[in-house]
Amino acid sequence: MSCLERAMAIFSSLYACLKRIKPAGRRGGAGRTAGEEAEDEPSSLFFDLRTLQVATNFFSELNQLGHGGFGPVYKGLMPSGQEIAVKKLSLTSRQGMREFTNEVKLLLKIQHRNLVMLMGCCVEGSEKMLVYEYLSNKSLDCFLFGKEKSARLDWITRFRIITGVARGLLYLHEEAPARIIHRDIKASNILLDDQLNPKISDFGLARLFPGDDTHLNTFRISGTHGYMAPEYAMRGYLSVKTDVFSYGVLVLEIVSGRKNHDSQLGGEKMDLLSYTWKLFQEGKSLDLVDSSLAKYNPDEAAMSIQLGLLCCQASYADRPDMNSVHLMLSSDSFTLPRPGKPGLQGRVGRWTTNTSSAFTNTNPSSTQTGATKVSASSSFIEEYSRNSISISSFDEGR
Ligand SMILES: Nc1ncnc2c1ncn2[C@@H]1O[C@H](COP(=O)(O)OP(=O)(O)O)[C@@H](O)[C@H]1O
Ligand SMILES: [Mg+2]
Repeated sequence: MSCLERAMAIFSSLYACLKRIKPAGRRGGAGRTAGEEAEDEPSSLFFDLRTLQVATNFFSELNQLGHGGFGPVYKGLMPSGQEIAVKKLSLTSRQGMREFTNEVKLLLKIQHRNLVMLMGCCVEGSEKMLVYEYLSNKSLDCFLFGKEKSARLDWITRFRIITGVARGLLYLHEEAPARIIHRDIKASNILLDDQLNPKISDFGLARLFPGDDTHLNTFRISGTHGYMAPEYAMRGYLSVKTDVFSYGVLVLEIVSGRKNHDSQLGGEKMDLLSYTWKLFQEGKSLDLVDSSLAKYNPDEAAMSIQLGLLCCQASYADRPDMNSVHLMLSSDSFTLPRPGKPGLQGRVGRWTTNTSSAFTNTNPSSTQTGATKVSASSSFIEEYSRNSISISSFDEGR
């Protein structure tokens, strides 16, 4: 054996040794990086409660990043120096340990550059927690609606966020190992990395709480009011088009730099969807663009506004799927269909729709929405009562 061969042999056995060393705090399995497959043995997805306590300064208030419908989120620092975000699930899931673990294992395999990476979970007694990669810029709402609107959120960045979220949703709907309907697309669920690239968070959370009506009511009422598709809000009809509607609202918020409902704006401007529709009909769409933007690309802005309206069509059959959205955003030559009136949410809780079909699907392979109980031309003029929300359909099949 030559000197070089011997050195190589020593190096490779050293490397094999290092690979077997477990990172502190993880009960087996090496820390995953995006792109790696989740390991099969269940232990690889568990974090010790003690490790998370130390990492988050015993879940101190100072470490709290926010509090959503599922419970508080804390920033943590692992002994390796890696920053993490720990979501304490305060709702009790009806799932047993095994089912919960299986769902987390599945979610670990769902990885994309536009999704926040789930690293694992912690289950100790009744406590359940999810551990995510930490994103230093937090969420899009902080940039978009914060008092000090960030100058970093220029048009190029905004358009990159619009396309990145579309890419992440397309992956969840069509390409992931299991189809995921997110159900809670909104500005605070779009996290931003160091370069302000968007990453969708909280995907698959609904999967961890199957059949838990209390949770779902909380989920909807606290989290998604203003982003909810009419058929989902009123009847619980769920399909990929539920996410498309929320995505449409989000796109309009990104272009306009305002929330979907802002009573301080008063009058016709209060409701983002109705106001956008009004401007569109008057041929003044670009008046919607955030006035704090020094410059922007008018073609991209006009296209985004039209796309936002298309995604918010009242009837789910009239909304594009994410395949088509992605195509529209990435092709210069694609002529967008003219949208009809969007599913407007009246102030007294009244949804009204227009039944004309504005959207022609360009991708025949992806016309299935999964929701079958509402006819494409049905018209909702119904009181929307928060108390009457119930889940009648959980069809998530492709
Ligand atoms: N992985 C993460 N990295 C950094 N900040 C996060 C992360 N996850 C959540 N956050 C912050 O914590 C806040 C609360 O999160 P969450 O409980 O999901 O509630 P919501 O999404 O309803 O705001 C978010 O708005 C976001 O600013
Ligand atoms: Mg969230």
